[in-house]
Amino acid sequence: MMRAMHIGILTGGGDCPGLNAVIRAVTLALVNECGARVTGIERGFLGLLTRRVRPLGIAEVAGILAEGGTILGTHNKCDPFHYFGAGGADCSGQAMDFARELGLDALVAIGGDGTMSIADRFTALGLPVVGVPKTIDNDLMGTDRTFGFDSAVAVVAEALDRLSTTARSHGRVMIAETMGRYAGWIALEGGMAGGADVILLPELPFSVEAVAARCRERESRGEPTLVCIAEGARVRGEGLTVQATVADSPDPLRLGGVGQALQHRLQPLVESEVRTTLLGHVQRGGSPTPYDRVLATRFGYQAAQLVRRRQFGHMVALQGDDCTSVPIAQVAGRNRLVPVDHALLSAARGIGVALGDD
Ligand code: F6P
Repeated sequence: MMRAMHIGILTGGGDCPGLNAVIRAVTLALVNECGARVTGIERGFLGLLTRRVRPLGIAEVAGILAEGGTILGTHNKCDPFHYFGAGGADCSGQAMDFARELGLDALVAIGGDGTMSIADRFTALGLPVVGVPKTIDNDLMGTDRTFGFDSAVAVVAEALDRLSTTARSHGRVMIAETMGRYAGWIALEGGMAGGADVILLPELPFSVEAVAARCRERESRGEPTLVCIAEGARVRGEGLTVQATVADSPDPLRLGGVGQALQHRLQPLVESEVRTTLLGHVQRGGSPTPYDRVLATRFGYQAAQLVRRRQFGHMVALQGDDCTSVPIAQVAGRNRLVPVDHALLSAARGIGVALGDD
């Protein structure tokens, strides 16, 4: 009798809504369609080094579709090729030994660009990997969408809706700062969904005077101003606003604080009071939207198909409405920014949203 396939699943990098929906779909598809044995690896690649695993079956994934976070836990610093727990040494051999001991036929790695780069290196060492793209930032190459993004956009839209009523009551300028790292997708879609008057993105360095001019113009009509700024946005000719540096992280810069910095520079240039709300990790928490639940389920199902077809070294991708795949090597370590000629930017300008780049 042929041995059933044994597949490992891990979630790496920052969490996002929809991770559990992927874990559920991969597990159910593999168990139902080919009787596979599935093992969850805890806390991302760290679990391969610390040997922390748990069985996943139909009972273990019941009821997790709408649950935020990840039942497996995650880690955003653990790169076994440069392991922080061993002073930056290459411990990939140790991870490979454990994968062999477990008898894994393949690994499904759910994560962002960092996780894909590590997955790519494990594929080269002979551990067959299938990638599933996650991030609220929506900035992975090769896929039009990542799950988690829609949920983050919904949080931003709701926050702007709430800020707009209090902004109107007090006649204030309200700044909302979003996440997104070096890409402006969350601020752009969240800002448009929440009716922001000014949207500031990393891809379009802005001038404080242009933002102030829009606020003054609105003040002259008795209107408040809603500003949606991405954490990676920056004033033309200046650098990023960095909140902290995490030395042992693969991506050491933690962005944050650009909204507050803008408030200080904007206040002397306008009549109204300027206030800032940093949305932060609220954008990453909680239950996924229905769109993200469906996308995550499609991605998980597609990952199971790639495993069954032994199409390793590939990452699941959404292209148009097709759930397809791309070689991980083509996308690992690369970011997808908002193109400056993107149709949504033209629509924003066309309806009078200021992008701060005049
Ligand atoms: O990549 C997802 C993300 O939420 C970014 O938008 C943000 O800059 C970063 O992670 C925050 O990371 P941490 O959770 O380590 O603060």
